[in-house]
Amino acid sequence: MNNYINEMMESVNFIKDKVKKIPKIAIVLGSGLGSLADDIKNKVIINYKDIPNFPVSTVVGHKGELIFGTLDKIPVIAMNGRFHYYEGYDLQKVTYPIRIFKLLGIETIILTNAAGGINENFKKGDLMIIRDQLSFFAESVLRGPNMEEFGERFIDMSNLYNKEYINILKDVMNDIIGEYKEGVYAYMKGPTYETPAEIKALKILGADAVGMSTVPEAVVAHHSSIKVVGISCITNMAAGVTNEILTHEDVKKTALKAEENFKKIVKEFIKRI
Ligand code: HPA
Repeated sequence: MNNYINEMMESVNFIKDKVKKIPKIAIVLGSGLGSLADDIKNKVIINYKDIPNFPVSTVVGHKGELIFGTLDKIPVIAMNGRFHYYEGYDLQKVTYPIRIFKLLGIETIILTNAAGGINENFKKGDLMIIRDQLSFFAESVLRGPNMEEFGERFIDMSNLYNKEYINILKDVMNDIIGEYKEGVYAYMKGPTYETPAEIKALKILGADAVGMSTVPEAVVAHHSSIKVVGISCITNMAAGVTNEILTHEDVKKTALKAEENFKKIVKEFIKRI
């Protein structure tokens, strides 16, 4: 365990050497929000591969860099390229950056992702505020000896997605797109999209959207008392909800279309918190 902390401190010290002022807000850029990185001013970019002990992304088209700078004058770290369980990492690696953020002093994290819509009131291109999550199909990322440095063994999950921030996001979305959608995000391990039977089951369990990321990151952030906000871009209706065949290309295309509103919403949200 101490080894683990030592490894993390190597990453942290490397970053602190390069960045003078560390922000309080981190944004994980999912599919469809990558170009937010272009709007960041006064950038310091650090490649994952240069950070000691940091994992490196294997997904085609996913960048692997931490971007420090300001968005409309507000200091942020953007994580451009995240790690997924389906890439073969264990969940400790998937969530390694979140613990680094905590050690750097991050207080709020905005997790964004692409997701399949299960709720039939959703349509392709919608943005969904994540109100809560289902993680039945993932092992717990907190399994194993508890890292007391970050948080307690048994943690309350009733305010996992920060309620105050959800309300701010609702106002922001109403102001920018005239409506908001909210719902429960269900985690599936991937890398296959789900079968129609799985989607039917998830619907019965209360899911509104499904995706292959975010859930482990949210748990680790919450464990270490970072405030969590989540937004999903509904890039497709989930398997069997419509007759459409899912392709990664279509998912990316829809994410791109939603990008402008997605960026506006994130920028306005960080101004209001
Ligand atoms: N399922 C899982 N992950 C996803 C989907 C989906 O339908 N769309 C985008 N990411």
